[in-house]
Amino acid sequence: MDAIRWGILGAGGIAATVAADIAGVPGNELAAVAARDGERAAAFAQRHGVARSYGSYAQLLADAGVDVVYLATTHAQHHEQALLTLRAGKPLLVEKAFTLNAREAREVVAEARQRGLFCMEAMWLRLQPLVRRCAELAADGTIGNVLGVRADLSKLFPYDPAHRLYDPAQGGGALLDLGVYPATFCWLLLGRPDSVQASGSLAPTGTDVTVGMQWLHGDRLSQIYCSAAGPSPFGALVTGTDGWLRLEPRLHRATRLVVHVGDNEYVIEQPPPEGNGYRYEVAEVARCLRAGELESPLVPLDDTVGILEVLDEARRQLGVRYPADEG
Ligand SMILES: NC(=O)c1ccc[n+]([C@@H]2O[C@H](COP(=O)([O-])OP(=O)(O)OC[C@H]3O[C@@H](n4cnc5c(N)ncnc54)[C@H](OP(=O)(O)O)[C@@H]3O)[C@@H](O)[C@H]2O)c1
Repeated sequence: MDAIRWGILGAGGIAATVAADIAGVPGNELAAVAARDGERAAAFAQRHGVARSYGSYAQLLADAGVDVVYLATTHAQHHEQALLTLRAGKPLLVEKAFTLNAREAREVVAEARQRGLFCMEAMWLRLQPLVRRCAELAADGTIGNVLGVRADLSKLFPYDPAHRLYDPAQGGGALLDLGVYPATFCWLLLGRPDSVQASGSLAPTGTDVTVGMQWLHGDRLSQIYCSAAGPSPFGALVTGTDGWLRLEPRLHRATRLVVHVGDNEYVIEQPPPEGNGYRYEVAEVARCLRAGELESPLVPLDDTVGILEVLDEARRQLGVRYPADEG
């Protein structure tokens, strides 16, 4: 295959950030962008060197010069737009959270599998070299038997009822925006939990703001924290019978992995990646497309669905409902 030609749906914040990284990975090019407003799409195209722009998503999906679609819209739009993309015959990369709930995710995954089209959640955390190294060291017994995982991702989103994070209709909430990262990390280390306990605080609009979760996996425990009310310096800690692994500073942008075994400690350093941090996921999508793989073994769709099942249960306990949950 020649260069992979990307089309971007949505011309918002993350679209701009990831566009720069698509352009930064050899063998990938920015073929088209679509926004609901044609002028915004055209301005985005000019700013980011995208070949073509469209004022409707349907036009981009009909563009034969687009090999893969990057869906960079808000959570509540992912389900419908992912289905439209697949029905147009295009492989796709879907921003996290993949969909609002597990039911929607199962429908998208079923459509992709039935049509034989590549599909992946843009869970770039799983492609970070230090996260992968941490999971490998835990799996190979470096710290003995793994006992538990603690992980956090927090960031201040000032309260604004109109912001997507605080709007239930847009799939707002710290869990889907931030918590999905530490949840994915704990899943990566310990797999599906047997039980989930969640508690947290809600915004006046009803979306979750600060959430703590405990997942029990047999006799092992995950503790997950996320907050949209303020930042946190904590990344992740994996404890075992012989030592621990600590990712620093923050989970999704870790540059240090501290390996502590017995009385010995060493640090694996990983300089910040070139670009904005999304080149690994761009390269993985391109690799899968070139190899004819329909799912990335590094970001399996069954994990994407399973994690949303657990987050559904956490939201049920928190009392956070989206209009789409009634569907
Ligand atoms: N991977 C990461 O590190 C990362 C970081 C931030 C956000 N995200 C994820 O990326 C997605 C977008 O977040 P963002 O921060 O880029 O948001 P944003 O700046 O608000 O952009 C969202 C885009 O969604 C589109 N959209 C389509 N239908 C919409 C509707 N009915 N209401 C509102 N927007 C609609 C808009 O596209 P038009 O241009 O067509 O108007 C807008 O450009 C979310 O899923 C978020 O969780 C990921």
